[in-house]
Amino acid sequence: MKDDQSITVLKIGGSVITDKGKDEGTARTGEIRRIAEEIAGYDSRLVIVHGAGSFGHPQAKRYDINGKFDPRGSIITHLSVKRLNSLIVAALNEAGVNAIGVHPMNCVLSEDTRIRNMFLEQISTMIDSSFVPVLHGDVVMDRELGTSVLSGDQIVPYLAYRLKAERIGIGSAEDGVLDGKGRTIERITPANFKEIKRFIGGSASTDVTGGMLGKVLELLNLSESSNINSYIFNAGHPGNVSGFLSGRNIGTAISKEEY
Ligand code: IPE
Repeated sequence: MKDDQSITVLKIGGSVITDKGKDEGTARTGEIRRIAEEIAGYDSRLVIVHGAGSFGHPQAKRYDINGKFDPRGSIITHLSVKRLNSLIVAALNEAGVNAIGVHPMNCVLSEDTRIRNMFLEQISTMIDSSFVPVLHGDVVMDRELGTSVLSGDQIVPYLAYRLKAERIGIGSAEDGVLDGKGRTIERITPANFKEIKRFIGGSASTDVTGGMLGKVLELLNLSESSNINSYIFNAGHPGNVSGFLSGRNIGTAISKEEY
């Protein structure tokens, strides 16, 4: 059983909650509602991070803000992901979760696309007061570049490490990391990564932040500097988000060792 103090960080990928094939923000409202209801059944300490999907990737690409400074494009992209965040926070509150939107644009400083600073005290005080902070992939201020695109995949391990989280769940649109025959790989460790890397691709749709390989690399790095276990699973299957939150290990586990 989990003790009450342990923190779980859950990411819901943009391809689950939006139609990522679209050129403009298109929310999957039914999926957002279902996932919010699954989360509502969980009453321990939780941080949610969601992806941007079609509310962020097409805009970031259109204004070429991944590598080039464009204040207008940055604002348009930020306002768009903020809209998705409002939809998710509203659905969570409707389902009974005391969710608060936290925009990385307002609390993160990056340097050459990597997080240098995040205002964590506010987030941990929210968790201590039984709120659920809901962060998201965003455009953030960047000391080197002016602004840069920050993926939720980078926020998750950053937060998990500093908040001393116990488990990470990455709810994606796939059953986990798949091998060459489409079967879910059970566990990825630093020892078997080299062999597994050839199976892992980027993303099928417009994705400026690295797809599945980006996720695995972030989580593998984290597993080497902590004891946090991460699970990449399919959040599009009803029951998987609540299953993960109630302690089931589903999808692909990413951990330091085989055990
Ligand atoms: C991307 O965030 C942020 C922007 C494009 C502004 P994520 O990398 O977390 O989004 P998904 O999960 O791939 O959609």
